[in-house]
Parts: sequence; structure tokens; C-alpha cells
Amino acid sequence: MKITRRNFIGGMAVTSLMDLVPQVSSAKNFETQKNIIAGPGRSLLMDPGDKLTNLWLYNGSLPGPELRINEGENLNIHFRNQLTVPTTIHWHGVKVPNAMDGVAGLTQPAVEPDETFSYKFKVSEPGTYWYHAHTMGWEQVARGLYGALIVDGIKDFKVDHDITMMVDDWRLDKDGQIDEASMGSLHDWAHRGRLGNWLTVNGKSQYKRSVKFNSRIRLRLINAANARILKLELTGGVGLQVSLDGNPSNFTSVSKFEIAPAQRIDLIVDVGTKPVLLHDLSSREKILAGIIEPRSELGQGLVNRGILEPSGLKGIPHNLNNAIRLKVHMQGGAMGNLSQARFKGENHTIRHLARVEKKVWAFNGVVGTYEHELAEVARGKVVILEVFNDTSWPHAMHLHGHDFWIRTSKRSNNHIDVKRDTYLMSPKEKAELIFLADNPGQWLLHCHMLEHMASGMVAVISVV
Ligand code: C2O
Ligand code: CU
Repeated sequence: MKITRRNFIGGMAVTSLMDLVPQVSSAKNFETQKNIIAGPGRSLLMDPGDKLTNLWLYNGSLPGPELRINEGENLNIHFRNQLTVPTTIHWHGVKVPNAMDGVAGLTQPAVEPDETFSYKFKVSEPGTYWYHAHTMGWEQVARGLYGALIVDGIKDFKVDHDITMMVDDWRLDKDGQIDEASMGSLHDWAHRGRLGNWLTVNGKSQYKRSVKFNSRIRLRLINAANARILKLELTGGVGLQVSLDGNPSNFTSVSKFEIAPAQRIDLIVDVGTKPVLLHDLSSREKILAGIIEPRSELGQGLVNRGILEPSGLKGIPHNLNNAIRLKVHMQGGAMGNLSQARFKGENHTIRHLARVEKKVWAFNGVVGTYEHELAEVARGKVVILEVFNDTSWPHAMHLHGHDFWIRTSKRSNNHIDVKRDTYLMSPKEKAELIFLADNPGQWLLHCHMLEHMASGMVAVISVV
């Protein structure tokens, strides 16, 4: 090797640094530390030459910094709030201790402007997760407070490129700014939630990513939208679905698929020399969301494209005889059948609730607040949530602190073979969400259409 001035100096620098820094065995380094600051920021959501959009961001970037950690390690986040409003961070899908769950007013007080909070927890299950604001989430997530949290597994599939795609829709006004006039619209809250008019992947319109020729890639798709159920179409390659919401799944080849708000789908795609395109079909127009472009100058993929084996579904509950059954009757919304409901201990007509309290949804006849405890269950019990979506709208039901298995008549065989943390329920669907209550604390069950949650679709399950 020729010694040039540059690498000679580089070598020197490393040597002198090694002398100064005390040597710590890397085997002890099981903690990833990170500073995260929430604050105002700007990003180019529209096309080059357009105006920057004013947003609220983590570390000034959209999405927030991708947090990557190995399975079994500890994450230590020093969080500072530089917004003018209180906020918290929720680690969606990660089984954190209750005090780290980030639900302001339930698991912690909100972090006030200029204050800090430390989130520390061990991450034990590999997969695709995300983090987002959980204080006035319907506004804060819509303004950009989210990022990806990827947990690398020891036995992960070998790929040439591991690509996270956070898909979001924004409601922008004609100046390319967040449409504030419609923020909190009661109409949105009683219908589908706040749908956007501008689609981005990783904060970019028509997101582009170059990969090597003939490479095997893992796409981690995350729906960060407040309310839009994405209908994605993959062309130019076949997607092999390997994971749902961070859980290993049965392998299925997919080309068109839905992702509800907060859900994740991981796909393995073998790319040749032609681009792979991702379109969204959920609005009237077919929208190009992203392009994966193989480029010869990046070289050839190196991963052996052998047959992939599913890593297996662990822990399917077979014996449900002693399980606790809890009914969750979802009602309300436009074109619904809810005429009155309880709110803060009093009965009200739905008219009054909508007009005065801006509440339009209920579980079991109760407009949800963090005081609405659905049940207290003993740790170690298997719980079956018998959920009935008795509304005219789809809802993305999410449980904090636990993943659940799903049994529904919607799936032909009625088998329990899907484990998720967020499940999209069709209007009038009945489903059983089955989970082992092994994480003590107070956990939210809510709709992840964030406007629905704000207007009543929320309750608490306590594990004691
Ligand atoms: Cu993404 Cu209450 O959560
Ligand atoms: Cu909903």
C-alpha cells in the first residue's frame, strides 16, 4: 500500500487517540446512548425549488434519527423538549417497562418546554418499530414528530441493503405549509381522521434510493400517517413478507397490500437490474411513493440468494380455557348507532358530547379517557379481547406493552397465526385479540387513527 500524506496522517491520528482513550472492552458496551431533542424545524416536503414546510422535528430531521440497536441491548435516550408545548415519546411496539411508555398523564407527566426526561429500557425483540410523540399525538405526529427504531436480530436475514421507509401523508395548504385551519376538525374526527393531500417516504416526495445490481434488500415499511390506510403496490420485484409489526410472520408473497396507521410490514425483495417501484393506491390518484434504483456503479449484490426460511411463530396460545374474556364494543362516529354515552361519570347525548366536548366515540358505552379502566388483570393471565367494531369505519386497534394474536372470521381458516401490535378492523368485524398479560402497569388500548383516539377511542388495561 502506498503511503500518501492523507492516510499517513489518518494512521497517526488513530494511534495517538488510542493512547489517550482508556480502553474499555467492547463486550461490556451493551448500551446505546442518544440525545433526542424535539423542536421546531423545516423540511422540503414538496419538490426542489418549493418552500420549506415548517414542522416539529426530532433532532431537526424528518423522520427523526433512525435508532438502531442490537437485540438484547439497552437504549438510553436523553430527551429534551424545545417545543413551546409539552410532549413525550412513545416507543411503539417495544415492550418497555410501564414508566418508559411515554403516555403523558398516565405513565409519566408530560415533559414541559425546556425540560428533559431519560428513557432507558432494554430492547429484547428484533424487528421494525417506531417512536412518536404521545401528547396531543393527533397534532404532534401530524407535524412530524416521529422516527424509526430498528432492532437488529442475531439471526436476521442476510441482505445487501436494509432500507427503512416511513410513509406519511400531510395536509398542506397552497403555500406548502401544514394546513392549520383544518387541524382538529370535528368532521375529520367523526369520519376517517385527518387525511393528507401530499405523500412522502422518509420525508421526501417520490423517494429515491440506489442499490447494487442484483441485490437482496429488506424493506421496512412503516405507516406514520395519522389516519390513512395505505394501499401499497410493489412492481418490478416480488415482496416476500417476513415480518408484521416487528413479529416474524408466515412467508407470503405480496404485491398489493394494506398498512394501517402505525403498522409495519417487512419485505425481502430480490432486485435485478430494473427499478422496483412503490405506489400508493389509497386515494383517487395512483401516487408514486418511492423508487429503488439498481445502479451498476455500486457493484453487484453479494448475498447468496438461497431459499429463505421463516424464523417461526413462537408462543401461539393453544389452551384458552382459562383465559380472561373482555368485551370491547366500539361505537360512535358519523353514521353510527351511539345515541348516548358516559363521559367523566355522567351520561350525555352524543349530540352534546360532539358539540361541547368534541367526543364522538366510545368503548362499551364510555367515552374513553385515561380514567376509563377496561379491566384489571393479574400478571401471567391470557386475555382475550373480544372486539366488535360496531361503527361504519375501519379502526387500527393498538395495545401498548404487549403484542396480541388475532382470531377473526375475516381470515378464512379462523386460525391464530398472526401476531401484531396494531390490527385493522373493518366495519362490523368481530375479532379476538389474544395476549399474555406479562408486562405490569397501565396500558392503553386505542385506535391509532389519532383523531379517533383523541375523541374517545381509548381505554386502559391494568396488569397487576
Ligand atoms: Cu403508536 Cu398509543 O401509540
Ligand atoms: Cu379509529
